[in-house]
Amino acid sequence: MAQPVRIAVVGAGLIGRAHIKRVLEEPEASLAAIVDPAQAARDHAARIGVPWFPGLEAMLREARPDGVVLATPNRLHVSGALATIGKGLPTLLEKPVAETVDDAMKIVAAAEQARVPVLIGHHHRSSLIMRRAKEIIASGALGRVTVANALCWYLKPADYFDVAWRREKGGGVVLINLVHVIDDLRILCGDIAGVQAIESNAARGFPVEDTAAILLRFESGALGTLSVSDSAAAPWSWELTSGENKAYPQTDQSCYLIAGTEGSLAVPRLDLWRYGDAKSWWAPIDCERRVVPEQDPLAAQMRHFCEVVRGTVGPVLGVREGTRTLATTLAVKEAAATGAMVRVAAI
Ligand SMILES: NC(=O)c1ccc[n+]([C@@H]2O[C@H](COP(=O)([O-])OP(=O)(O)OC[C@H]3O[C@@H](n4cnc5c(N)ncnc54)[C@H](O)[C@@H]3O)[C@@H](O)[C@H]2O)c1
Repeated sequence: MAQPVRIAVVGAGLIGRAHIKRVLEEPEASLAAIVDPAQAARDHAARIGVPWFPGLEAMLREARPDGVVLATPNRLHVSGALATIGKGLPTLLEKPVAETVDDAMKIVAAAEQARVPVLIGHHHRSSLIMRRAKEIIASGALGRVTVANALCWYLKPADYFDVAWRREKGGGVVLINLVHVIDDLRILCGDIAGVQAIESNAARGFPVEDTAAILLRFESGALGTLSVSDSAAAPWSWELTSGENKAYPQTDQSCYLIAGTEGSLAVPRLDLWRYGDAKSWWAPIDCERRVVPEQDPLAAQMRHFCEVVRGTVGPVLGVREGTRTLATTLAVKEAAATGAMVRVAAI
């Protein structure tokens, strides 16, 4: 086997520590350094015996990694990515790409000009469930996709909102959580051309939305509905149904329903509903469950990133495509603010 690729992790908070764990567990990778000014991160680096740096520039000079994971707060994504791209280093950049599409396009331009691969951390792109669902739809088993319904309903505990930014503009469910669902729907049904949306803060009364309902028009002509609420005591969300993140107790439900002219699919259960010879609502419709092995998508993403760093494959979600997901999510915010149908700009 070739030498493990040396990966540095920048930002050792909630998701950064999850990446550090995957680097340490991945035989193709070794942990080159941790970058994070917080004392807790310094202590963590000392505990696991890894070089620690308070800032990115010093790490890039001294630790000389082969690839870098950027798991810093959103406002630091542009400066961090421009620095790693400037050094020609393949980068795993956490989602969302940036806070605005204009900022994200600065990363797109730099990465494409320097030909440096940037993988965006929408780790459902590495999920076996999502990949299988995409294959089923692409195989034509549903016929022409006509309609999709996605639910992202869960109950965040009250103390989640003790952190001030989660109660303020930018901290609501649309920008924090819905961005994943939008990327999932793009995986399953393709690009979204336009959105309409309404938001509410009636359940929690914070300045930021706790609930949103969205209408989607896909470029294929299919239509969709999507709703999200952090104030819904319900089992229907990717978190509670997929079983991919063991921190959440799993339910046996599905959260995405996709239907076409020949059949329909419930995800993540992968229940495929199809008619026999008689195709009509008068005839019985059969259900067949497809099964995929259990897998940790963050570990699969890290394995994939190692291949990206080695240059054997391109990123499963590059920065231009990741920016399209960001643009679609921001279009939801604009649609909710204006009441208009907002077209998603071409990226
Ligand atoms: N893919 C996912 O499922 C997922 C989940 C959670 C968060 N995220 C994304 O990951 C990013 C981080 O989120 P989080 O929840 O881990 O946040 P967090 O607040 O838990 O962690 C951020 C860390 O960055 C550190 N930091 C701050 N300034 C820094 C700097 N200049 N250099 C290096 N480190 C610095 C902080 O000290 C902190 O430890 C965000 O972009 C978020 O959207 C993605």
